[in-house]
Amino acid sequence: MRILHVASEVYPLMKTGGLADVCASLPAAQRELGHDTRIVMPAYADAVAIVEPMTEIASCAIEGLPDPVRILETHLPKGDVPVWLVDYPPAFWRPGNPYQDADGHPWADNAERFATLCRAAVEIARNRAGLDWQPDIVHCHDWQTGLVAPLLGADRNVKTVFTIHNLAYQGLFPREVFEDLGLAEDLWGHDGLEFHGAMSFIKGGIIFNDWLTTVSPTYAKEIQTIEFGCGLDDLLQQRSDRLIGIVNGIDEREWDPSTDRWLTHHYDADQLHLKYENKRELSEEKGLQYNDDVVLVGLVSRLVEQKGIDLVIQAIPHLMDEPVRFVILGTGQSELERQLMDLAIGYHDYVSVAIGYDEGLAHRIEASADIFLMPSRFEPCGLSQMYSLRYGTVPIVRNTGGLTDTVIHADPLTLADGNATGIVFSEATSTALVAAVQYALKLYHQGESWQRMMKNGMRRDVSWGPSARAYLKLYAR
Ligand code: ADP
Ligand code: GLC
Repeated sequence: MRILHVASEVYPLMKTGGLADVCASLPAAQRELGHDTRIVMPAYADAVAIVEPMTEIASCAIEGLPDPVRILETHLPKGDVPVWLVDYPPAFWRPGNPYQDADGHPWADNAERFATLCRAAVEIARNRAGLDWQPDIVHCHDWQTGLVAPLLGADRNVKTVFTIHNLAYQGLFPREVFEDLGLAEDLWGHDGLEFHGAMSFIKGGIIFNDWLTTVSPTYAKEIQTIEFGCGLDDLLQQRSDRLIGIVNGIDEREWDPSTDRWLTHHYDADQLHLKYENKRELSEEKGLQYNDDVVLVGLVSRLVEQKGIDLVIQAIPHLMDEPVRFVILGTGQSELERQLMDLAIGYHDYVSVAIGYDEGLAHRIEASADIFLMPSRFEPCGLSQMYSLRYGTVPIVRNTGGLTDTVIHADPLTLADGNATGIVFSEATSTALVAAVQYALKLYHQGESWQRMMKNGMRRDVSWGPSARAYLKLYAR
């Protein structure tokens, strides 16, 4: 099959979160299964700067733009997937975060920028971009690609799939933007892009694609409820016969403790003592006490409401009498950044905080920590808990979305039958989080059952294998 993925971030060209990991590793897995998979994304300044060579292979006119867009080509470093970058300097030629400026404000022209991405993808999908290639399937990811299917229209010889990675981000803009974009009037309205008087990109994704997916079976159910539906639950219920949840896989070459390029000490399930060399090294580097009895708790996250970071901030002071140390990496809302820094100052022997985006440190925390925290309020899938499983780092997660689908809670039964892989707690409160950490510490000090849990996690299949096939099955339908 010829498959075109359309995405706003693709690792390593641009990444702010798991979307980038998935939009690189899923196409690579499909290509390994013998399919002709390609990716289209924006030619951000930072993306163009890190990949060489980058060849201009076409240029095409786009409705509403004074100049043609150029299409640059490169390949993903792994799996050799062709990537087409839509080069339109007024839209994409600015450094930094793809969605917001350095102060955290969304770029004022986001609607125009991602409409340009969508329009270029439509030209490619119709084989009108001068690339001499036409997909059978166009697979769009998140709100930034929500206009692809509406712009393709009903009269099309490609089928389309839209994956919701996170329903909380919807691409909402004032009605005037709809007019400025020059969209056909029949795309407006309740059955179109209108959402309470505003224009919604994600509604375009939900209404106009042949099939909808989201990134775990539990989240697929959750988004059809008021609690998680972000105002779109009714619409998603109406489309429920065309909505399925397929859990993400991970890139097993990028995230492998036996080869990870960011680690000094490689290890696998048979050499867990080497994992502790990583723990020793990172603890010393961060000024945290290291010994067998001290449990290192890691957290790597975007610092946003979704991730339950406030629960961690409230919980930490209540855990200071326990033999634990925290190593935290994240960037996001400035208030959360500030509160974390305050903790790091107040409890400097116990809590280390790095604010920023650091791919290498993320890998080292996954490898070094005994426990990984993910107390998310909601979590469409989550990749970090799967990286943790692979690295023998026991995840403590909240019972929601993909966390529910990927971590098996340690209770007497699952511990005995060798299925337990982590600790799952329910209430989104700091009290419940403290209790979950205390329970984990108790298991840790029981030694044998902890080691077994680490190994159970390392043995779990978190590869793309089954899920890449599930997507192909869907395309075939
Ligand atoms: P989300 O996509 O909601 O952020 P996921 O768990 O799916 O959550 O994916 C998060 C990805 O982003 C992981 O690869 C994680 O390592 C990475 N990540 C998050 N924050 C940082 C950071 N500050 N530095 C480096 N990597 C980060
Ligand atoms: C989103 C979700 C996360 C998911 C990722 C990749 O960013 O928040 O749960 O793992 O997309 O699908």
